Amino acid sequence: MKMAHLLSALAVAMLATSVQGQAPAPAPASAATYPLQQPALPYQFWAQEPLIDNMTQMLHWTKHTATYFENVNKAIKPFPALQALTVEQMMPAIGTESIPMNISKAVRNNAGGVYNHLLFFKILMPATAQSNATNNSALPANIGQAINQTFGNYTVFKKNFTEAALSVFGSGWAWLTVAKNGSLAIETTPNQDNPLMVGAKYSGSQPILGIDVWEHAYYLKRQNRRPEYIEAWFYVVNWPQIDANYMAATGSNAAAITSYASA
Ligand SMILES: [Fe+2]
Repeated sequence: MKMAHLLSALAVAMLATSVQGQAPAPAPASAATYPLQQPALPYQFWAQEPLIDNMTQMLHWTKHTATYFENVNKAIKPFPALQALTVEQMMPAIGTESIPMNISKAVRNNAGGVYNHLLFFKILMPATAQSNATNNSALPANIGQAINQTFGNYTVFKKNFTEAALSVFGSGWAWLTVAKNGSLAIETTPNQDNPLMVGAKYSGSQPILGIDVWEHAYYLKRQNRRPEYIEAWFYVVNWPQIDANYMAATGSNAAAITSYASA
């Protein structure tokens, strides 16, 4: 068993005990986690215009993402032990018996949707003249070095990541992940799954960059032209944030990656 999954299994075993009605797990000392609250974005919906349009971003955040929040809160309403978890803490429980069977699909789809969209919107930045002039390919030192070591250079990474995002059949995601040993990988998941969920096909690695290739992320402006959307998206990837995510993942502070506390 992989170390990540072993740790997850331990956390899940503790959670399972509480879900079954014995010795409820204490809520974290931090602020209450229920209901999960959708944060404010650190930029306007038009910030990525014309690469990603205002209407798409507005609907994506205020409708699609908001619905994932509403639905996960509704699903876990009868389960205090699950309410005590942050959405980050829920991820390694998804795919295990610690999520009651009658809500397992709802939690998978909607807690996954919350986690994935928090990451997706956090790693975007406003379109700028500088990012356009450089193709947004001037990467900060830490993540730049890691990408060069893993893929050879940014151009190869971008090509491989684009191919992965194009390979997702139907709705899903492509990710850049960091394994426990610090190595980078490109992964894909269907629907609102992500690599942190438990299952034989998932790595347990921490996503630090993710692209949503559901059609709701691009259809209004790009219709069925997913390659065009992916190319435009690369121009508004916030590489300083990816650098911070990489350092957080390798420094075991993964919760910071989807936190909007300082945004
Ligand atoms: Fe989405």
